[in-house]
Amino acid sequence: MAQPAVPWKTVWITGASSGIGRQLALDLASMGITVAVSARSADQLSELVAENSNIHSYPLDVTDLAACREVAKSIEADIAPPDLVIMAAGVWIIRDIESFQAEDSIRAMRVNYEGAAGVVDAVLPSMRRRRAGHIAPVASVAGYRGIPRAVTYAPTKAALISMAEAMRTDAQRHGIKVQIINPGFVRTPMTDTNDFPMPFLMEPEDASKRIIAGLRSDRFEIVFPARLAIIMKLLRLLPYGLYFWLMARFVQRA
Ligand SMILES: NC(=O)c1ccc[n+]([C@@H]2O[C@H](COP(=O)([O-])OP(=O)(O)OC[C@H]3O[C@@H](n4cnc5c(N)ncnc54)[C@H](OP(=O)(O)O)[C@@H]3O)[C@@H](O)[C@H]2O)c1
Repeated sequence: MAQPAVPWKTVWITGASSGIGRQLALDLASMGITVAVSARSADQLSELVAENSNIHSYPLDVTDLAACREVAKSIEADIAPPDLVIMAAGVWIIRDIESFQAEDSIRAMRVNYEGAAGVVDAVLPSMRRRRAGHIAPVASVAGYRGIPRAVTYAPTKAALISMAEAMRTDAQRHGIKVQIINPGFVRTPMTDTNDFPMPFLMEPEDASKRIIAGLRSDRFEIVFPARLAIIMKLLRLLPYGLYFWLMARFVQRA
């Protein structure tokens, strides 16, 4: 059966210099979509641009709100207002009770959550005017519950999930689609240094395929792989007593 037409002409991806964002840029560009890519590393973005002429570089630090607004304006002027915005910019900092530092929590929240909020702010006025658009932050199944050693990271992803949930119904009334992307473990520079087992680890190519298929669907949450998603969703339902009992017994420590 023929695939329905691609629903986007212009896509903006933040966090596109490596990992999941980079793979998404390559895959969407190969579908004939014009892709604006952002991250701080201009060199890595230039290498990406060299791979496909549908890709255009817009270096950006998402923690700079004014710069987010400027980049959104530039994309609109140079190409078109993005039909779809994927916020994949993120940092993963392993921290626990022994290594906790407020500076890390603040940095992670600034990039992962406030950075996404800055990009939403930058594209929303145009989407509201056009009564069209599609917004998809990349959170994580780590945002479902407080997980040991994710004291810095998990709250940022919980905040993103909550933001997308809070926007979804209201945005629909304005003709704007909001989804949340919750990957399990994907092999990228972010996970390359992890010193613990990563169940059901996936390749970025596989993750990108699943994300694109999910973005073409109407479901709110794009979550994968299924086996990890089921485990994490069950953990979310457990009462605190049982949840902490399981964490104390089964979560490995380095
Ligand atoms: N890999 C996984 O297992 C996994 C699982 C669940 C969720 N995620 C989420 O998926 C997203 C992509 O992660 P990844 O695994 O692909 O990691 P990655 O390869 O490390 O990519 C992270 C991206 O974020 C960009 N970035 C970091 N700080 C930024 C800032 N201040 N402004 C703009 N861009 C910034 C990085 O580029 P620059 O350094 O050049 O700025 C890079 O392009 C993240 O939000 C991550 O939390 C990943």
